[in-house]
Order: sequence, then C-alpha cells, then structure tokens
Amino acid sequence: MPVTIKSEREINLMREAGKILARVHEELAKEVEAGMSSYEIDKRCEEIIRSYDCIPSFLGYEGYPGSVCISINDEVVHGLPSKNKIIKDGDIVSLDTGVIWKGYQSDAARTLAIGEISKEAQQLIEVTKQSFFEGIKFAKEGYHLYDISAAIGDYAEKFGYGVVRELVGHGIGTEMHEDPQIPNFRQKRRGMKLQAGMTLAIEPMINMGRPDVAWTDDDWTVVTDDGSLSAHYENTILITKGEPEILSL
Ligand code: MF3
Ligand code: CO
Repeated sequence: MPVTIKSEREINLMREAGKILARVHEELAKEVEAGMSSYEIDKRCEEIIRSYDCIPSFLGYEGYPGSVCISINDEVVHGLPSKNKIIKDGDIVSLDTGVIWKGYQSDAARTLAIGEISKEAQQLIEVTKQSFFEGIKFAKEGYHLYDISAAIGDYAEKFGYGVVRELVGHGIGTEMHEDPQIPNFRQKRRGMKLQAGMTLAIEPMINMGRPDVAWTDDDWTVVTDDGSLSAHYENTILITKGEPEILSL
C-alpha cells in the first residue's frame, strides 16, 4: 500500500480524532488505580471513547476483544483485558488505545505508574517518552523516515535499555495501520523522504533489559523474554514543512 498524503480536510479530521484521543487518555489515566482489573479498565475506556461519539478502533481489529491494550510490567504491548489481572501498587501499566472519528483514526499509548514505583521503573517510563521526542526532532519534511528511528533507538540505548525490534510504528489515516512501518532503532538505509501531509504513529517500546520479546499463549500479549519491565509511549503526528504537529497530545 502506498503512503498516503492527507488533504487539508483529512488533516482536520485527524486533528479532531487526535484531540479526542488525548482526552480519552487523560480521563482514563485519572481512573486507573490499584485494585482495578484490566477488564474494568477496558470497559471504562470503551465508555469514554463512545462518550465522544467515536468508535474504539481496537475492538474487533484482527479479532482483538477489547478497546485498549493493557500491558503490565514485563508485558510489552497488546496485553489482553482480563478479570484476573488486577493492577497493584508499584506496577507500571501501558495503555494503548485508538479512536475512529468520522472515518479517521488516531492511536496513542501512555505508560502509567501505579502508586509508588521504583526509581528504575520511573526512569524507564521517562526515557521511553523522551525517546519519542528525540525521534520527532527529525519528523519533518527534508529528513528521512529512519532518521526518526535512529534518534529513538540511539537515545534509549544510551541508558542500556533494549529497544524492541519486532514491533514498529506505522502510518495511520482511514486505517489504523498504513504504510510506512517505522522501526524504533537505527537502520542501514535512510528510508523514504518525509513529506508534509503524512500522518504517522510513532511508538517506542523499550525494555529495561534485553530487546527480545515473546508471544504468550493467549495469542496477543507480548512479554519481555528476560522478564524485565517494558514501557510504551505513542502519539499520532502530522508531518509538516516545519515542526511536526502532535495530534494526540
Ligand atoms: N495500537 C497498536 C499499534 O500501535 C495496535 C493494537 S492491535 C489491536 O499498532 F488489535 F489491539 F488493536
Ligand atoms: Co500504533
């Protein structure tokens, strides 16, 4: 599939979808606390998304049964909602969700600290978020796609962290996953030229230990191979001739 350049009309709808998703994350984050199951978080997320007259984009995507992926501690991404998974004090919890608004999508993830977490876990969350911001310094016309990848990966690796290789960011628009794929680590090539009007979901997934991940037997939840903690941070952005617009913040 070719990479799409969005029209002004489409960009405005993507902006609206992004703004709504930012609010969904804010509202959900306020509610998540120790004692809650990931099933309850999913139900609340769906209600909040629908309160904005949006469709939860994850629900039914390739058979995914929830509206949000809830990935706890060593779970990297795609954690399935479950009544048996209870959030507890000291956990780190990644919430990854998306909305469809008038046919246009936004996708974003945050990693939350539940109660008191260790200094090491706090640093992992902060570095993961900062790696996104390091990456988007290169998210503008004139740079190449993998300039973003290299900036993300180089930053996270300076802290000794493992950058997940098997999962990537992506183009987004009328589909959640459009071309191009966006790795979070340095590539040998430069990748395509970035052009104003591209909308991208940039999403570093960073492990405290080794980069390797494994798929669990629920077919969705991805965990770190070595059991180390993992954090995720994602926003949908718009490429322009100048600074990128972060649509979902
Ligand atoms: N949000 C994920 C991504 O960033 C996709 C989730 S897959 C789903 O690409 F099935 F859970 F929707
Ligand atoms: Co995504």
